[in-house]
Amino acid sequence: VTDLNMPQLGGLELLRELRARGDHTPVVVVTAYSSIEGAVEAMRAGAIDYLQKPFDEERLRLTMGRALRMTELLAENRRLRDAIEARYRFEEIVGESEGLVAALGTVGKVAASEGSVLIRGESGTGKELVARAIHFNSRRAGGPFVAVNSAALPDTLLEAELFGAEAGAFTGAAKRRRGRVELARGGTLFLDEIGDMPAALQVKLLRLLQERTFTPLGAEAEQKADVRFVFATHKDLAAEVKAGRFREDLFYRVNVLSVTLPPLRERGRDVIALAERFAQQTAAQMGRRAPALGDAARQSLLRYPFPGNVRELANVIERAVILCDGDVLTPHDLDLPAVAPQRGPGAPGESAASTPELFRLPEHGVSLDELEASLVRQALDRTGGNKSRAARLLGLTRATLRYRLEKLGDGGSEGDA
Ligand SMILES: Nc1ncnc2c1ncn2[C@@H]1O[C@H](COP(=O)(O)OP(=O)(O)OP(=O)(O)O)[C@@H](O)[C@H]1O
Ligand SMILES: [Mg+2]
Repeated sequence: VTDLNMPQLGGLELLRELRARGDHTPVVVVTAYSSIEGAVEAMRAGAIDYLQKPFDEERLRLTMGRALRMTELLAENRRLRDAIEARYRFEEIVGESEGLVAALGTVGKVAASEGSVLIRGESGTGKELVARAIHFNSRRAGGPFVAVNSAALPDTLLEAELFGAEAGAFTGAAKRRRGRVELARGGTLFLDEIGDMPAALQVKLLRLLQERTFTPLGAEAEQKADVRFVFATHKDLAAEVKAGRFREDLFYRVNVLSVTLPPLRERGRDVIALAERFAQQTAAQMGRRAPALGDAARQSLLRYPFPGNVRELANVIERAVILCDGDVLTPHDLDLPAVAPQRGPGAPGESAASTPELFRLPEHGVSLDELEASLVRQALDRTGGNKSRAARLLGLTRATLRYRLEKLGDGGSEGDA
């Protein structure tokens, strides 16, 4: 609590000095009846409230109570904001593979600009995560981040959702509704699944991109948009243009700066780093220590192609950590589908379909010895140590399997059924 008029340092100067030092101590200023302008100025400079002289104890108590509650709320707000921003810092994006690092390098460069960005990548590769990182690393970070999924709604609803609607614009619209473009004012508008945008809306989106204006449904006048655009798609937009499903003029507006997020199966050992991160997160939520990733578990993660990419990995690890009762995660905990590695269903035709291989050599390569050891171990795991059946699983004779086991330094020490 400070008076405004003081002999050496005035209340207002004191307040400004505190704030300049990043000190958020709540300040209530005391003013004389005659200097209400002083109080207004103090509030502008960040005072939380003011007291007019003369005041009694009750009044002081009330004001202080209110100021303290307000301070708590402000601090809470600051904490939440920091937490959200921290989640979307680039450092939170896990991965060191060449493809990802290259993509993030581009993202880092474009974030600061105002230009539209197109993020391409299969489902679950982190497109939305990257979109948020762009927003929180741009000059618009203080503004809102608003996401719209272009595939989720039918034409008219999507239009109202995007541009807003005047009251009575269509049946059921009783009140004026603000669209996402308006809600994103001063911030970033994230248009997800842009490749699925209905043709009728593509024209309107083109106008929004070209003229930076839009007209709410049923409105007479157009409005100015103040947003930065980030688009995402899992489709090959150029192919959509060729097929006549996506306007070519829109394509050129959307595809100014583009970033392609590689599928997880092409990110080499990133899958391990991500798995460790997810295991820690899940364990922390459960209030327990994160289990370590066993060697065999690592091998199965590196081998599995993850058609659902990072999202699928996150689910796999979460389930595994919940179900695992030791301190080491095993392939059994991971319970990955035993498919011959192949492209996931509905995967985009971005990279031309390659001939299906029995085993696809990962980008980072493999150790043939480790692979052999791991396959043998799995076969034995699956058959409960039965060598005859394990040999059959591997297409070997029992003698050959025995030979390989010896080579692996595991000379038939286990019991044989
Ligand atoms: N490199 C990464 N580091 C840490 N977390 C990641 C990474 N990539 C993705 N994730 C997490 O994986 C999940 C899926 O990511 P996101 O929703 O951004 O993918 P998407 O490409 O938008 O998927 P979809 O196409 O299915 O909408 C999210 O929980 C995200 O936080
Ligand atoms: Mg998404």
